[in-house]
This record gives sequence, C-alpha cells and structure tokens, in this order.
Amino acid sequence: MSEILDALFRRRAVKAFEPVEIPQALREQILNAARHAPSSFNSQPYQFFWVESSPRRTTAAKLCMGQMPAATASALVVAVADIGSLAATSQAQLEWMRESGLSDAKVRDYERTAKTGRILFMPGPFGIFGALKWAIFRLLNLWKTFGMPPVFRHDIFKWAMKSTSLACENLMIAAEALGLNTCPMEGFDGRRLSRFLGLSTRYHEIVMVIAIGKKSPAYVEPPQWRRPLEATVTVL
Ligand SMILES: Cc1cc2nc3c(=O)[nH]c(=O)nc-3n(C[C@H](O)[C@H](O)[C@H](O)COP(=O)(O)O)c2cc1C
Repeated sequence: MSEILDALFRRRAVKAFEPVEIPQALREQILNAARHAPSSFNSQPYQFFWVESSPRRTTAAKLCMGQMPAATASALVVAVADIGSLAATSQAQLEWMRESGLSDAKVRDYERTAKTGRILFMPGPFGIFGALKWAIFRLLNLWKTFGMPPVFRHDIFKWAMKSTSLACENLMIAAEALGLNTCPMEGFDGRRLSRFLGLSTRYHEIVMVIAIGKKSPAYVEPPQWRRPLEATVTVL
C-alpha cells in the first residue's frame, strides 16, 4: 500500500500520550501539510494555534475539560475558522500573482473574483446585507441554477469550517506519517478557550483541538469500527 494510505489507515484517535518533545522541524512539516489542504477559493480561512509551552498547554488542557488526550499530549493544536482574514488573503495572493509574473489577464481575472468574493462573503452590520443577499439569491434561484453562497455570518462560519476541517485531517495524517499520533477533540469550553487565545467571536470560531504526541506504550486501542461501505455510499 502507498505510504499515504498506510498512515491514513493506521491513524487512530489516541487517548493517552507519553511525554516527548516535538522538534521544530517536525512541527513545521506537520503544519505545512495542514496548509496544503484544498480550501474554498483558496481562501485558507483558518488559523492554527500550536500550544506547547507548559503553563499555556496546562491551561488549554483544562479548557478541554481535562480530557486524558489533552492532559497528556505534547502539544495541543487549536484549529480556528477565521473569517476575518479573507480580504488580506486575497490581497496577498494578488501580490504573489503579480510578483510571479502571471499574465495581466490572469491577475485581472483574479481581481474580479476577489472583488465578487468580498461582496458575497460580507454579512454587513446586524446581518442586514446578509438578509438582502438571501432575498436576491433566493429570487434568482427560482429560474436560474446556482449554488447558494453563504449569506449570514453563521453560513460564512460553516463555509470556513469545511476548509478548516480538511486542513485538520491533513495535519493528522501528516503527524501519523511522521511517527506521531493525534486525537481530534470537540470536547472543550469554546468560550473560555477563545478568550484564552485572544480570539474575536466576530471573526473566529474554534473548530477542534487536536492533541498531538507519541502514543503511550500503556495505551491499548479499542478495535476500530466503521459502518459498512453500503451504509455510507450510494453509487449512481
Ligand atoms: C470532530 C471530532 C470530535 C471529537 N471529539 C473528541 C473528544 O472530545 N474527545 C475524544 O476523546 N475523542 C474525540 N474524537 C475522536 C473520536 O471519538 C474518534 O475519532 C472516533 O471514535 C473513531 O475512532 P478512531 O479515530 O480511532 O477511528 C473526536 C473526533 C472528531 C472527528
């Protein structure tokens, strides 16, 4: 089997880790793998907080309800959907396109897409613009076929969380491939953890916390169960 599939099938949600230090080079490889995941419009609408220094990690673990994977991990990676970085990201991509010598037509094309994106992904004060967008798109959709863009702030968060989750999976598979183990967790106090990281509720939502480290030799994995293929797949 390919190395990627090996890591993918080997990965388990590990509940107890042994204390090992994760070298910086390994950390960077893992985080690089995360940001290479595909994202909607290549917007990369996320931030990762790698919490490893001892007082902070202890606090973050407590905010994960003291769960065993959090309390024993070498680091906790907090994956945050970030809808406040969209304009800066498209600006950075535009600059990169210009510096890379891409044709003027391509740059202009991207400029147009970025402008449309900015309008589509702007909920406006009190969601007023969102409501207006919803009404317009709903009306147009009566006779035209198109996918409904995210209109309200919670839709935009939902949209950003999809790309964030893909990056999380990349991160976990990369960690596994590099000899580490992980446990994704949604058992955390989102309000307190957000405050602890200095996040803004307007622009940030924690998607999951990933405990990362080396599986404790004392930890025995339970057998892995999955629904049968036919229960989750429809081939048309
Ligand atoms: C979004 C998400 C949230 C999860 N939250 C927790 C959690 O808070 N605590 C925990 O111990 N495991 C958590 N898990 C791990 C799952 O329990 C685990 O992935 C599942 O039981 C399947 O086991 P496996 O990953 O070893 O195949 C979570 C997994 C996902 C994907």
